[in-house]
Amino acid sequence: MMYTQKVIEHFKNPRNVGYIVDPDGFGLMGDPSCGDYLQIYIKVTNNRISDIKFEITGCPAAIATSSALTELAKGKTLDEALAITDFDVIKSLDGLPDIKEHCSNLGAEALHRAVEDYLDRQKFK
Ligand code: FES
Repeated sequence: MMYTQKVIEHFKNPRNVGYIVDPDGFGLMGDPSCGDYLQIYIKVTNNRISDIKFEITGCPAAIATSSALTELAKGKTLDEALAITDFDVIKSLDGLPDIKEHCSNLGAEALHRAVEDYLDRQKFK
């Protein structure tokens, strides 16, 4: 299995790793009790993602795709963030081996959940 240079680079130096103490939105994808999972924390300012962090337990492809996803999402409007797909993430990394494509689903879905969490919270303000 061959990873692109971009995948290897993101795996070795993942961007935006960590958590946000008081996030405006939080998204969890996967299962923390038994498998790979990803947690995304976002801050929202003027309808844009002003900060984003992630914590993950997963394979190298999942780490690289989560890192790339945070770069794609940062600065985007909420609508733009909701429109990001796992294919956008794969494209930004110049591709993933077929057998690893599913790993990128974690990122897009966790981001969408974080944005939806933010939007839900606004209803109760
Ligand atoms: Fe499970 Fe990649 S996240 S194999």
